[in-house]
Parts: sequence; structure tokens; C-alpha cells
Amino acid sequence: MAKPVTQFVCSACGATHKKWSGRCDACGEWNTISEEAPLSAGPGKAALGAAKGRRIGLSDLRTEEEPPPRKTSGIAEFDRVLGGGLVPASATLVGGDPGIGKSTLLLQAAASFARAGAKVIYVSGEEATAQVRMRAQRLGLADSAVMLGAETNLRDILTTLEAETPDLAIIDSVQTMWLDTVEAAPGSVSQVRASAHELTSFAKRRGVAVMLVGHVTKEGQIAGPRVVEHMVDTVLYFEGERGHQFRILRSVKNRFGPADEIGVFEMTGAGLAEVANPSALFLSDRETPAPGATVFAGIEGTRPVLVEIQALVAPSSLSQPRRAVVGWDGGRLSMILAVLEARAGISFAGLDVYLNIAGGIRISEPAADLAVAAALLSAREDVALPHDCVVFGELSLSGALRPVSQAENRLKEAAKLGFSSAIAPAGCKIGSGGGVRVQAMADLPAFVGEVFGAG
Ligand code: TYD
Ligand code: MG
Repeated sequence: MAKPVTQFVCSACGATHKKWSGRCDACGEWNTISEEAPLSAGPGKAALGAAKGRRIGLSDLRTEEEPPPRKTSGIAEFDRVLGGGLVPASATLVGGDPGIGKSTLLLQAAASFARAGAKVIYVSGEEATAQVRMRAQRLGLADSAVMLGAETNLRDILTTLEAETPDLAIIDSVQTMWLDTVEAAPGSVSQVRASAHELTSFAKRRGVAVMLVGHVTKEGQIAGPRVVEHMVDTVLYFEGERGHQFRILRSVKNRFGPADEIGVFEMTGAGLAEVANPSALFLSDRETPAPGATVFAGIEGTRPVLVEIQALVAPSSLSQPRRAVVGWDGGRLSMILAVLEARAGISFAGLDVYLNIAGGIRISEPAADLAVAAALLSAREDVALPHDCVVFGELSLSGALRPVSQAENRLKEAAKLGFSSAIAPAGCKIGSGGGVRVQAMADLPAFVGEVFGAG
């Protein structure tokens, strides 16, 4: 038998290398490669050719089977992000920064599923059962029928789950789990990958829904390999700013429902509370019309959400002016500044630019382009936009405004929150638009001329 060769694995992307190096060729990250024992020796190529495999059963696509009934927890925000409830035999990864509230959320979800009649096992590898119980007491869940375990040895956990076959098993967190068959420390790429693999195949084999908690690195990756994301059916991120009470649960991958769906929660002294109408909350502390602030009518998943975009533009003392962004993509900001300069002749040279999405939400929709441009212009010209006006539209490099999807839903949400006018790209399907007066713009120069009276 060939002697097992050690391999070198990148903790950022999971690529394996034969030799150690300071920089990973696959993803370009520095200092992420470490030595690890291989997963298993496995049969060589010759063995695969010689020993024939078993024939697998094949079928056609005309299935008669009913889709499996989903289990709902009763926490509407949580169920919606899952695509309408929990699918049996599914594997879900819940990622997020340490301390953001993953354990709190999953303990609350576990209790709700248990209350709805499901058999739920919660295994913590990070806290002792007494600690979890104390948290449950604080959340007012002490009387729920969730079964608790504190363990990190995955072999013991799997044996227990086999024997109990619950409807839902929660593993908090996958980074603390270890398999005695893998020669690497808990939290290492091979351990995380092997643990996640064992748990997902257990889910499929025994029809148990499994939820894994995963910590995220500073760069926004599930610590350890991206491979875990490929293994599971659903990937949810729990995100939010530490200083803000809002928390957003976002599905970034879902084999059983729409991706990009969000659920909004508020962290209170007694755990996470659902926020049924996020727009009202994100806009609730809006001050009187101020230069630099615009309201963007966005869509998150299937739901319209209004958020305030704030910009500040100030003379810079630096040779390379500052561009600081919170809640939006910095590259996209540079692009919009360049389009404003090239297509509308408005330069931000020598000016520091700060952009903030209020409420701690992160926006990735290109439809926010026009609202960002409006906030930047409003800050630079020191002219406030009308207080009752929402803005949306995608900006192309030519300066043209592109129509965006679901314009009618955006307008209806705006109408519901008391806005009466909107600035939107020409060519959007707006239907009745909820009664909102729409100013349709073809391109950036038209928008600048119309709203700020300059060309
Ligand atoms: P936790 O769920 O332990 O985070 P994670 O599992 O993602 O690491 O949440 C910890 C934070 O949540 C902690 O800083 C305190 C706060 N918290 C509340 O504000 N209210 C509560 O009711 C609970 C249980 C926690
Ligand atoms: Mg935790």
C-alpha cells in the first residue's frame, strides 16, 4: 500500500497543494496554507478499473411522488428564509460572525419546532448544557421539549442521533466537531470538511433535517473550506452590525426555495424578535430632509424593503481622497463616481466620500445605483431631495438608466409607507404603481438636470 502523503490545504478556498507556499495559487490569499493529513488513502486508479461497481437504479423525470411536507416553526421570518419551512432530510448551514446571535436564533427555532410537535436535538460543542439551559431560561424557553447535548466527538453524536432519529438535529458549531478517523485538529479544513460530510450524509440516509452552525472569517467566508457550502442544500447567513439591534437572516443558496430571501430580526434583552415590516423600522429614525440622504426602494428576495442611503462629501486634506463605504460594495461606489464624472461632468476629485446604508443592512442590488448617485449629488450640491420621494434604477457605464425588475412592488411599498413620488428609469413596468407619481428618466444627465438643475 502506498504510504499516505501529507497534503497542504488552503483554509480560504479549500484547494490542495503538493507543497507549502506562502500564497495560494488557486485563490491568491496569503498565509492560508497549512499541512494536513489526507482525508483517506482511498483505492488507486488500478483498483477502480479492476473491481466492478454495483449497477445503480435509474429512473425518468416523470415523478409521481408528492413533495415532502415542510415543517414550519411558527417563526414566520425563519420559515420564509428556508423557502416555506424545513425540508426533511435536508442539510442547512447557518453562518455568521461570532457573537452575532446564531446560537440564540437556533435555540429559539429549536424550541418553536419542538412546540409544533417535532423531535429536536440540539448539540452544543461550544457551551456546557448548563450554559445553554441558562440561555433558554433567559429566552423564556425553559419548558420546551428540546433535547440538549454537549459534545464534540462526532462519532458519539452520530451514534446518538442514529438511535434517537429526531426530526431536526442542530450542531453548534461544525468548527468544534472532530472525527477520530481524521488526523487533524478540530477546526482545521480536513476536520470541518469530514464532519460536514458525515452529517450531511447522515441527514440523507436517515431522513433527519440537520442544521450546522458555522463561524465566518473576517473576509466573510465560512471558516475552513468553501466546500461545506457545496455539500449542504441550504446556506443561510446571519448578518448585522454589532452596534445595531437589527439582524438579517439571508439565504445565499437554497435547493428548496428562492435564494436571496431575507428574514429580519431585532436583538432584544429577551432574544430575537421578528420584524414583520422592516421598511418601517429602517426608516423610523429618519430626520427632517437632509442633504445627502435618499430613500432607496429595494427588493430583498421576494420582499420590497425601503432603506435610507446616506452620503457625506467633504473637502479632503489627503493626496488620495478617502472613499469609505458601509453596507455597500466599494468597487461599485468607485464605478458610480466615475460615471458621474465621465457622463455628467461632476467630479469628486479632492473630496472625501463617505457612504452608509442606514440600519446595518447590506445591499447588493444594482438597482441601488441611482439612489447612491442621488445621495452623492445631494451631498455634494448641498440640496435635499423631496422628503416624500423614493429612488431606484441601475446605472450603466454609458450613463444610461436601465429598467429594474419588480418596479410595481417597489412603488406599492413606497405608497404603503407614505411616499408619494418616485424617480425611476424609463421603461420600467410600473402598472398602477400604488398611486405614486413617477418621474421616469432615460439617463444620468437628464436626472442631474431635472433634480439638481444642472447639466
Ligand atoms: P450568540 O447567540 O451566543 O452568538 P453566536 O452563537 O453567533 O456566537 O449571541 C451572543 C450575543 O447576543 C451576546 O453578545 C449577547 C446577545 N444576546 C442578547 O442581546 N439578548 C439575548 O437574549 C441573548 C440570549 C443574547
Ligand atoms: Mg454560538
